[in-house]
Amino acid sequence: MKHFTSVKDIPNLKKAVEMAFEVKKDRFAWQHLGKNKTMVLVFFNSSLRTRLSTQKAAMNLGMNTMVLNVNDDGWNLESELGSVMDGDKPEHLLEAIPVIGRFCDIIGVRSFARFNSKEEDYSERILSQFVDYSGVPVVSMEAATRHPLQSFADLVSIEEYKTKTRPRVVLTWAPHPRALPQAVANSFVEWMRETDYELVVTHPEGYELAPEFMGDVKVEYNQKKAFEGADFIYAKNWASYSHYGQILSRDFSWTVNEEKMAATNHARFMHCLPVRRNVVVTDGVIDSSASIVIEQAANREITAQTVLKMILEHSKEGGKINQ
Ligand code: CP
Repeated sequence: MKHFTSVKDIPNLKKAVEMAFEVKKDRFAWQHLGKNKTMVLVFFNSSLRTRLSTQKAAMNLGMNTMVLNVNDDGWNLESELGSVMDGDKPEHLLEAIPVIGRFCDIIGVRSFARFNSKEEDYSERILSQFVDYSGVPVVSMEAATRHPLQSFADLVSIEEYKTKTRPRVVLTWAPHPRALPQAVANSFVEWMRETDYELVVTHPEGYELAPEFMGDVKVEYNQKKAFEGADFIYAKNWASYSHYGQILSRDFSWTVNEEKMAATNHARFMHCLPVRRNVVVTDGVIDSSASIVIEQAANREITAQTVLKMILEHSKEGGKINQ
């Protein structure tokens, strides 16, 4: 695997999950792989889990890490091709990216949806430029339309906690005061579709995800019905895709609460975090024994390390790194 921007980059998902469990057993067993190699983590947006887990994962493999917070530390970067740069952005990604690439062996990039336009976000302009111009492997640390490192941790968490071969996994929309990207939801659906789990997505009308992610996945508009018999409840807010970036509902009747969880099959509660308590989910649910959100977040280190390990191994086998 050279780049990691979606589940499609993983050659064999079953083996990747097995490898994640191997990593979890002894995360320091591959320190030789990253010796004298450097990872730069570039953030265009805030992060707690992704920053710490990916840095820790790289360090577990013996790598050095450097973090660049573009909005705080660096020049304001232009991403539009052909732009006349007479505004507030003194440097273009076309120079910044290959320069960053000269200082490292792997680049991690986080660039959220900007909600200026659906076309801009869904073309993944920033992430694509890193892939095209860096000259080194690129790991998406969440982009405009996907959050694959999160989804890999979600999958490993479900594998850890499932009590049957084919669990019923429910992704539920939940209210939020701000317009959030569809990336986590898109990606979760994309990864779940690679499994044989029963996947149900529930949300109010108007919150349908992009068809390219949903495929033939069932949408159940009645949240109560969706929860019946569920083994996992994954809560997440996202802004509308059809009315791009808009908040169509703040309906608190979609908040995940104890009464709804009681209708499930003793479901585990999941969320990628950060989470708005008593908006997305009640204290009673997130503080209950059903909640696995902390273990889920902890698995971010394991799955990030699995991804970096695969990239480093690919480079050792002849795939170019830092060409
Ligand atoms: N879940 C997640 O990506 O968290 P951060 O935004 O804190 O990195």
